[in-house]
Amino acid sequence: MQKPSILVARAVFPEVLDKLAQHFTVESNTEDRDWAGDELVQRLKDKAGALTTGGQRIDAPLLAACPQLRIVANMAVGYNNFDLDAMTAAGVQGTNTPDVLTETTADFGFALLMATARRITESEHFLRAGLWTQWRYDMFAGAEVHGSRLGIIGMGRIGQGIARRGAHGFGMEVVYHNRSRLAPQLEVECKARYVTKEELLRTADHVVLVLPYTAESHHTIGAPELALMKPTATLINIARGGIVDDTALALALRERRIAAAGLDVFEGEPQVHPGLLELPNVVLTPHIASATVGTRLAMAHLAADNLIAFFDGCGPLTPVNRPRSE
Ligand code: DGY
Repeated sequence: MQKPSILVARAVFPEVLDKLAQHFTVESNTEDRDWAGDELVQRLKDKAGALTTGGQRIDAPLLAACPQLRIVANMAVGYNNFDLDAMTAAGVQGTNTPDVLTETTADFGFALLMATARRITESEHFLRAGLWTQWRYDMFAGAEVHGSRLGIIGMGRIGQGIARRGAHGFGMEVVYHNRSRLAPQLEVECKARYVTKEELLRTADHVVLVLPYTAESHHTIGAPELALMKPTATLINIARGGIVDDTALALALRERRIAAAGLDVFEGEPQVHPGLLELPNVVLTPHIASATVGTRLAMAHLAADNLIAFFDGCGPLTPVNRPRSE
């Protein structure tokens, strides 16, 4: 029987490509160039499946040009690159990679919080620049982490992982806001208390964003929300660009209306708002929250296993929609 044809839209681990080649005829992006727009359509139009990362937009015009496409397996837990309604209507299955990255991403959220509150990258730049000539009582004095109030917006699996780290590891008082409240047992485990978004913003010492990007969550943090935050507060975004209004944030940081921000994701990334790049009180990382070797490997395997299970007729392992014709 002929193997289905699939496209692997970005470079992945060779062992994952080898696994896919046992099941599929594979066209892979060996040069790891950013295939977008027409080039992506040209490469995808005769394929039955695709392994994507968050960078390839799967929308109605692409789906119309790729009628043979049956499944797109995203190597990411977020899938805001999918127009899910269009995929569902076109009978195209979407999948993501939940769970395998939860703890690694929560680790990173905490690392970014620590680096931001304790001014680690800013002080390292100072040292490397040869500016450290003497001790000063207030040199790079940052914000307290242990015992402070941690506010988490978006209390899915990763948010819960950050809550556990804060509450159990650092004795923080954890408050959260989410579309729906956690089950009482989970609130106890996370030692987290549900509050309104306004109360969270007004009272938290550190605000961490871990919610999915949707039309509703666009600019969850803009000028009005930043104005509610304490002038000593830090803001951490490991969710998606677009959840924060980066222009408003750059202004708030410049005017010291909040103390600092730690950002792993950006509006229009890989471009970064120039107003953020020039500020000392912001820690910037290139969307690496899930980037450990073990976790990225697990994500790639899960995306591959979704394709294999789907074409074996077992159903995808981690679906994000129920396409009409499936
Ligand atoms: C995810 O899995 O959604 C991470 O942000 C990587 O894209």
